[in-house]
Amino acid sequence: MITGVGSYLPINKCSNKNLSNFVDTSDEWISKRSGIKNRHFVTDNEKTSDMSFFAANKAIENAGISKNDVDLIILATTTPDNTFPSTATLVQKKLNINAVSFDIQAVCAGFVFALSVAKSMMSEGNFKNCLVIGADSMSKLLDWKDRTTSVLFGDGAGAVILQKFENTGCKYDDWGILSNIIHSDGQFYDLLKTNGGVSTNQKVGFIEMEGKEVFKHAVDKLSSSLEEALIASNKKIDELDCLVPHQANQRIILAVADKLKIDVSKVISTVKNHGNTSAASIPLALENAINSNKILNGNLIGLHAIGGGLSWGASIIRIGKPKNL
Ligand code: ACO
Repeated sequence: MITGVGSYLPINKCSNKNLSNFVDTSDEWISKRSGIKNRHFVTDNEKTSDMSFFAANKAIENAGISKNDVDLIILATTTPDNTFPSTATLVQKKLNINAVSFDIQAVCAGFVFALSVAKSMMSEGNFKNCLVIGADSMSKLLDWKDRTTSVLFGDGAGAVILQKFENTGCKYDDWGILSNIIHSDGQFYDLLKTNGGVSTNQKVGFIEMEGKEVFKHAVDKLSSSLEEALIASNKKIDELDCLVPHQANQRIILAVADKLKIDVSKVISTVKNHGNTSAASIPLALENAINSNKILNGNLIGLHAIGGGLSWGASIIRIGKPKNL
């Protein structure tokens, strides 16, 4: 069950107007094409592990557990502090706990992939309390001379606590992650990628994207994966209390809502506040929705995301835990 959620945005906020001081763009263009108004950027000394640590502490506190209860940390990121070791081990060190810790990389779909890995490891292993983090410093991959990509991304982190409840004498089959669907298709590798990498040229590279193609795939694959996840959990779209989509672009969010025929009032959108924060986007939107009472304990929610690879996926979740636990 998902019993805690936390997020973090760097203090350094950059509006579209601020951005237009150093990128050849305008508030009007960015707002109309993406719905984004602000993004946050890490400061020079702020790293992905720092944002993760803040989000993790909030999620642990929100779940009402001790940090020492956490036995597994899975961190989805494309922008690790160092090429190795994993940033998750640094978060473990900062938390000063014992936990199996590792990173996974599925770019903007990273959080949905991490949930899938966590669910498998918890059901097959002895792990009881898993900290799943999505965190990215996308500003480190932006080429400010490329206005087609640099206006869309921001930095941030979000985290959730997944708990396994055993030996309670009760079955809670309809709580937690009810289904999780993930896909990848490397034939679309070149649609969204960095133009460098460790084994290519020993650099991290800048983001390059074929925007129109990515847009079409996003609408198609976000819709189809959510439909698959609904079938896998034996739920109908009308049963969802809320949909928490990947926060990349308001036009994609609305096109998918239209395709799925879900009431827009049920669709969480925070993209205007922080742009596309890659793996952090879903937990950031989730915490925002919970804090503003748009998502309540026991609600049935859908999540879905897509990113470079292409990689994409969706989950159906009954959020929180029964009152008697
Ligand atoms: N500011 C001002 N003008 C710009 C900017 C900018 N930042 N960027 C491009 N333009 C100009 C172009 O030069 C072009 O001018 P021209 O007509 O004189 O040649 C014009 O705006 C239109 O450019 P297009 O590329 O056709 O713009 P489009 O309507 O396709 O919108 C966008 C671009 C916003 C990137 C869109 O394709 C998109 O949303 N794609 C999805 C990408 C996305 O969200 N990716 C995130 C990562 S993947 C994911 O998370 C889903």
